[in-house]
Amino acid sequence: MSEASGHVLVFPYPFQGHINPMIQLSKRLSKKGLTVTLIIASNNHREPYTSDVYSITVHTIYDGFLSHEHPQTKFNEPQRFISSTTRSLTDFISRDKLTSNPPKALIYDPFMPFALDVAKELGLYVVAYSTQPWLASLVYYHINEGTYDVPDDRHENPTLASFPAFPLLSQNDLPSFAREKGSYPLLFELVVSQFSNLRRADLILCNTFDQLEPKVVKWMSDQWPVKNIGPMVPSKFLDNRLLEDKDYDLGDFKTEPDESVLRWLASKPAKSVVYVAFGTLAALSDKQMKETAAAIRQTGYSFLWSVRDSERSKLPSGFVEEALEKDYGLVAKWVPQLEVLSHDSTGCFVTHCGWNSTLEALCLGVPLVGMPQWTDQPTNAKFIEDVWKIGVRVKADEEGFVSKEEIARCIVEVMDGEKGEEMRKNVEKLKVLAREAISEGGTSDKNIDEFVALWT
Ligand code: UDX
Repeated sequence: MSEASGHVLVFPYPFQGHINPMIQLSKRLSKKGLTVTLIIASNNHREPYTSDVYSITVHTIYDGFLSHEHPQTKFNEPQRFISSTTRSLTDFISRDKLTSNPPKALIYDPFMPFALDVAKELGLYVVAYSTQPWLASLVYYHINEGTYDVPDDRHENPTLASFPAFPLLSQNDLPSFAREKGSYPLLFELVVSQFSNLRRADLILCNTFDQLEPKVVKWMSDQWPVKNIGPMVPSKFLDNRLLEDKDYDLGDFKTEPDESVLRWLASKPAKSVVYVAFGTLAALSDKQMKETAAAIRQTGYSFLWSVRDSERSKLPSGFVEEALEKDYGLVAKWVPQLEVLSHDSTGCFVTHCGWNSTLEALCLGVPLVGMPQWTDQPTNAKFIEDVWKIGVRVKADEEGFVSKEEIARCIVEVMDGEKGEEMRKNVEKLKVLAREAISEGGTSDKNIDEFVALWT
């Protein structure tokens, strides 16, 4: 462990897809000499945990919910979350300021603008760190500014939306919260209010890299103090400079990697397996799940499908057993996704286009079949298909349903079509750029160094 000097606080929005990129930044900051306190707002108190490998200590602070309440209640009762967490964060920082190495800065997820107010009030340097890409955030920015008006009824407004530095976006390409007024009122408020006080942030970081979104980044940097520091994917799968950094863990939860999945993959020929996963939150309808299963079966490719326990009952009866018995498919409740994507046998990734999954595929050179569900995913899918050309997006009907023929068509195109070959080449190029950005002297690495230099 390197000798720690400046002390910074890191405060992620408490959902896994947001916590992971914050943990990854914390690891990099720690290895470059900072002491990091990671603060997690939670309804389950844990004793502070200090990593053996990094100068990172994790603290939980009370978020206003009872231990038996589901973590997702935060979505439904944001005011309770905001008022309790504001108090807990204020108390925590006030106490931490009295220690021998008081914190100098707070890095927070802009999904929690109240954190900026708390930290400013207490005299800290404040850094907003967006774990979602600019692609989605910029749309929210324009809504907040009043330069984009969300239609009352998306069917009545079929025109393309135009944002500076963006390709034109159809209604289906917009983040789901920005398609129709009133469709997700609480989440709409959450994503748009990120910009309510962002002008007061001293610095804005984003989990992307300059070369991935050059036009958008240029436009952003012209108006905001922006530094891109991504991709925040474990070092083993990128620059390999942090030898212990093989996954998103800090070592506080001992999860044994499921070796059986990797053994099964190893028994398949190179680039022959379709990997399917829809992240940590998205839930396909019963009908869509069965249709997806039928599509995968129809293609005849071997498949590995990560299906959370809560989703498993939606699979057709006998589907899992038959695939196992005939050895053409494996359904697992959680797989080591980075290992799977970096495996020789993986041929393509059928994904919901969550930002972490998108970055991981791109860093590991795997072409995509996008089945976006909600939030930033449709916009990510638009860039995957039309800007980066590293995958195809399935076409859904008016109700958002995708037929098995369409899913199968897209999988075959990526696995074996001529366009698939092009996508593979394109994603390989992005893989190189991603590694360059985070390697020593790369754009993201330099941006992290500049931030660290403020405190050492
Ligand atoms: C959420 C939103 O859905 C997404 O749109 C936003 O960009 C980030 O927050 P999530 O649904 O969790 O994300 O998807 P994603 O961002 O792709 O993150 C999923 C993470 O879980 C990835 O890091 C992936 O590697 C990991 N994963 C998923 C596994 O390790 N194993 C699995 O079996 C499935």
